[in-house]
Amino acid sequence: MSFHAIEQATARLNRSELAVPGSQPQMFEKAAASDVDVIFLDLEDAVAPDEKEQARKNIIQALNEIDWGRKAMSVRINGLDTHYMYRDVVDVVEQAGERLDLIMIPKVGTASDVYAVDMLVTQIEDAKGYEKRIGFEHIIETALGMQNVHEIAAASKRNESLHFGVADYAASTRARTTNIGGVNRDYSVLTDPSDDGDREVHWGDMWHYAVARMVVAARANGLRPIDGPFGDFKDADGYRAAAMRAAVLGCEGKWAIHPSQIALANDVMSPSEAEVAKAKRILEAMADAEAQGKGAVSLDGRLIDYASIRQAQVLVEKSKQISG
Ligand code: GLV
Ligand code: MG
Repeated sequence: MSFHAIEQATARLNRSELAVPGSQPQMFEKAAASDVDVIFLDLEDAVAPDEKEQARKNIIQALNEIDWGRKAMSVRINGLDTHYMYRDVVDVVEQAGERLDLIMIPKVGTASDVYAVDMLVTQIEDAKGYEKRIGFEHIIETALGMQNVHEIAAASKRNESLHFGVADYAASTRARTTNIGGVNRDYSVLTDPSDDGDREVHWGDMWHYAVARMVVAARANGLRPIDGPFGDFKDADGYRAAAMRAAVLGCEGKWAIHPSQIALANDVMSPSEAEVAKAKRILEAMADAEAQGKGAVSLDGRLIDYASIRQAQVLVEKSKQISG
């Protein structure tokens, strides 16, 4: 290990994160009754300019009056380049800061963006005498944000998670796709002809580099990496596959832009019973090995060593967190 210790952000279950437009208060009760881990009430891209003010009022009222249970509550503020953002922070934190756990900052570009919001939130919390500190979730969804992802991840003690905002990221990088998440037929490999002349098209994952890069920045700073939206909410298999790819790379949650995606995210992002059972067997086998003075042994015909202990511990810890 490096001498540099990584401080872990506040531990929070974040397998699923539901986006709920602040301008649609009729959706709030259903969201509160769902099985989602985190809800973000949106003031940004799901809300039209004329509705921003009313959406802010709806969110303040809902945070104060609805029973959200043990869910972590977040508000996605408008971008720092808009004139809505300061009022989003001031009004929501002043008037509903007690129930607010997180602020989601969209299109974050630099560490100084984080600093600016941190300063504002700190002043409000101090003035109001709040004891709890509100955490930050950052959406990495621009070329600038991705370029500076490491500095952003390290920019504030409030930071808890990084989210891959695939739709805006595609727009910012001018990627040739209009899907929200998912795969693209044009991002594929055409194999060389086989002996009988057949060629196959192997679809690739055009988001692999971006998600992997964000995961590294998040984990190197003790934050949760979370995969963003998958637009085609009728395609449960496509959603599941996207969530699985993200989970395999290290993400611990995925957005739900429709309530039907919550159960899929919770399922994919929870380790299965078989995985947890195997992790426990690895820990037992390594404990036995250590007692015999060995640092590596074989289990089911495969080598395991001290790195296996750390991998297994991650899974066992996660399952404990889920069972509460
Ligand atoms: C989310 O905000 C996205 O742009 O995908
Ligand atoms: Mg976006």
